[in-house]
Amino acid sequence: MAHHDFHFQVSYKHRLYFLQNAFSAENRAWLDALDLSPSRKLLCFVEQAVIDARQELAEEIATMAATTPLTFSGTHVLLGGEISKASAAVAEQALMVIDRAGIDRHSYVLVIGGGAFLDVIGYAAALAHRGLRLLRMPTTTLAQADSGVGVKCAINHFGKKNWLGVFSVPHAVIIDSAFLKTLSPEVRREGLIEALKVALVKDCAFYESIASSKNAWLNPSNELLESCIERSALLHAGHICEGGDPFESGSSRPLDFGHWSAHKLEALTDYTISHAAAVAVGIALDLLISARLGHLDPAMADEIFELIECMGFATYHPALDLRDASGNRAIHCALEEFREHLGGELALLMLRKPGAAIEINHIDHAIIDACIDQLGLRHDAVRAKFSP
Ligand SMILES: NC(=O)c1ccc[n+]([C@@H]2O[C@H](COP(=O)([O-])OP(=O)(O)OC[C@H]3O[C@@H](n4cnc5c(N)ncnc54)[C@H](O)[C@@H]3O)[C@@H](O)[C@H]2O)c1
Ligand SMILES: [Zn+2]
Repeated sequence: MAHHDFHFQVSYKHRLYFLQNAFSAENRAWLDALDLSPSRKLLCFVEQAVIDARQELAEEIATMAATTPLTFSGTHVLLGGEISKASAAVAEQALMVIDRAGIDRHSYVLVIGGGAFLDVIGYAAALAHRGLRLLRMPTTTLAQADSGVGVKCAINHFGKKNWLGVFSVPHAVIIDSAFLKTLSPEVRREGLIEALKVALVKDCAFYESIASSKNAWLNPSNELLESCIERSALLHAGHICEGGDPFESGSSRPLDFGHWSAHKLEALTDYTISHAAAVAVGIALDLLISARLGHLDPAMADEIFELIECMGFATYHPALDLRDASGNRAIHCALEEFREHLGGELALLMLRKPGAAIEINHIDHAIIDACIDQLGLRHDAVRAKFSP
């Protein structure tokens, strides 16, 4: 028998640009990251809701492309939102467009859309020819603060969140605050839950600055929103690039605080609850579990709870009470699904205090049940207080 081990390393650069109006003449520094030669093509995908809200966008992209030597392969509009990653249909459409445009591995795919659309097109771009150069322009608060700066993409499959996917580092991420202008007030505010999440697990000073403006988050000013997005995006990117495990080979996933139950809640509601709203419930549940296990001071859990409510989130959803055939809560199997998704052993993050977390590897179902009951009681009490 012969045995040879070869070791090799690959170095990546994660390029993030923060700006306003990416297509205006004075804001095109991000184009310097591209190999601008006529043999390189540029193909653009925009999600339907973005082009509906900003009809002149296709023209702006074409004008920008015309100022470069790149061969422009046009702008294609496809369905976005969570429904676009519910099956492989939109990814398949994107693959067909990529094939017909003859995009090779040295050409660029520019994707403009919310977190779900970035996931679908990123997935297609990572599969075509084993990976095209992807330029991301996230257009929602959540996608700018979190998902757009990640190095993975996925679609839902077998009724499970993000079951089909790949790790793939984008060539550049262009975070353009102009896209935030056309968001509904709800989508504009709710992505901030991921900023709160990363602050809670990584950065006490950031948590304190979010908490100090607690009454501003229901309708934040552009300035406040943009600075919160930038800080959140940098914390997410910093963890991914400098945390020692960019492609999640270990079991530990600090950026998934509150997500083990959130992903299951999304599936249990057939994705009618938004990712952000599900994460708010998931964080609320993990705060109660953290307190009940003795890791987090209950007074601090209350303070964070109140902040989540000030941001306009519900901290309970009736799907938490759905039961399987044996009468157990369906959410319990989220633990095993999460473990399988992570690989290795179950690793869940619990909070000790803002900026400090602890990993645990087991939770009793009875504790989950008690905390969900507590969420339900709190929800009923809040409703009773505000009903006439
Ligand atoms: N790949 C990752 O690392 C990662 C990380 C976190 C979250 N995610 C995924 O991101 C998704 C959630 O992203 P999201 O919160 O952006 O939701 P989303 O993509 O569903 O967008 C929310 C809504 O806003 C609309 N929209 C998007 N941009 C708009 C604009 N500029 N103007 C008007 N409307 C606009 C969309 O059509 C949709 O209806 C989830 O599927 C989640 O799993 C992925
Ligand atoms: Zn998330």
